[in-house]
Amino acid sequence: MKYSRREVLRYAGLSGGGLLLPAVESSCLISRPESRVLPSRLPLPRQFQGSLRILPILKPTRTDSLADFYNVSVRQASAQILDGMNTTIWGYNGVFPGPTIEAHVGRRVSLRLQNALSVPIVNHLHGARTSPENDGYPTDLILPAGGFPQSHMHDLLAKIVEGEREYIYANDQRAATLWYHDHRMDFTAPQVWWGLAGFYILRDAEEERLGLPRGDKEILLMICDRSFDADGSFLYPALDPSLRETPGVDARYMGGVLGDVILVNGVPWPRLEVANVKYRFRILNASNARRYDLETEGAASLIQIGSDGGLLAGPLAHRTIRIAPSERFDVVVDFSKCPIGSTVTLVNRAGDGPAGQIMRFDVFRNERDESNLPAKLSDIPFPNPEDAVITRVLDFSYQRRSHSWRINGNPFDPARMDARPKLDTAEIWRLQTDFNHPLHLHLVHFQVLGHSGRPGPYDEGWKDTIDLGPGQTADILVRFTGYRGRYVFHCHNLEHEDMSMMGNFEVV
Ligand code: C2O
Ligand code: CU
Repeated sequence: MKYSRREVLRYAGLSGGGLLLPAVESSCLISRPESRVLPSRLPLPRQFQGSLRILPILKPTRTDSLADFYNVSVRQASAQILDGMNTTIWGYNGVFPGPTIEAHVGRRVSLRLQNALSVPIVNHLHGARTSPENDGYPTDLILPAGGFPQSHMHDLLAKIVEGEREYIYANDQRAATLWYHDHRMDFTAPQVWWGLAGFYILRDAEEERLGLPRGDKEILLMICDRSFDADGSFLYPALDPSLRETPGVDARYMGGVLGDVILVNGVPWPRLEVANVKYRFRILNASNARRYDLETEGAASLIQIGSDGGLLAGPLAHRTIRIAPSERFDVVVDFSKCPIGSTVTLVNRAGDGPAGQIMRFDVFRNERDESNLPAKLSDIPFPNPEDAVITRVLDFSYQRRSHSWRINGNPFDPARMDARPKLDTAEIWRLQTDFNHPLHLHLVHFQVLGHSGRPGPYDEGWKDTIDLGPGQTADILVRFTGYRGRYVFHCHNLEHEDMSMMGNFEVV
């Protein structure tokens, strides 16, 4: 294969990223596809009317001394998201967001997933260190009970089953806010949009001992945007709305689909009544393509205590938190300075008009605060670049010729390994981008060494996703532990992922 000098420089990571790439791009006639808002075909719901839904915890169907067993059926159902209208969703046990699974470090979870939809599904536990056969590789489909025509991507290693599959999660990692979502090859974006996402909270005794806000003061917030058709159904620009054959979206949306209604736990712009004490909010951005710049308006600010891979070493105060698709920020908000009767609004500085608001907290009750926010939360080893046995350069860019999103110029191919790291070694991955790409690796957690120079404000702690802006380069230190086998890494803008921005690594 021959490369132009510019390509060689880009792949070698020497282009100077932000300096060269944008200049090259802007001289071209067709620009990169930006993410774009899909306008709803009905009047948008009023803000701060509905109450925040507290997500129910799923009860195991059975437990023994080592494991908790869950049976979940994935099916179509009807949800009341908009006033006086029904929205057809695809849901784990027929609900959106899916039921929360609460797991404990050192105790296994068995999740038996039954596919009652008419298309294949795959389940991935995002942020978990899972063996390859349980990780939800995109071609390891669960076909609907009666089968499905073989229209899916050819992959000799695919383990395809019919009707149901049992996933085993070892929970052999730090306590953290994880989430599960669909990962069907080529159709992840629409299937998550229809509702296939839920929380999975991994707890341990060390974290319990800290005395952080808990019980009704520990609240999960799944933020995602959606658009609605005139009849209240979800609107999505799929080329094949049945999601049976042709993958992909209307070309105008291949940069990513943005909804114009912001949902928190499935409720449009909700409100929550709080007491004047500290609360812990575990925030997940489950949107396909939208990033949020979260801020609080009112007498309370955002104090980060955890990220994708669990607690930080200590609390970190932020004015703004930028959260990209699939990232989690665990934050404490202290309402003690807020007068009873006042409100605090969670806003999105990255959004215009209605998308500039997320939800509202109404401070309505005086209470004594029983919780702590210790200055030391956890031990996090300082990342040492010298631990790395190799540096790999990976470029994430749009390719005009093929109209697709590529990694090092390649489309996804289950047979091509982009890296073969050795088990129990560390590597530096130098990630570079042409555009906004939240990049996610399965299996591992990593630490950010540098993000266009130095670690960014949102790179603290153990991460499984790093959000890169246009022309940025980041060095991450990745430790490959746990299992040998084949895993994917990809952009978590789900439209980019479905349109080829995914690669493989095999731990050997
Ligand atoms: Cu949350 Cu491969 O994804
Ligand atoms: Cu991307």
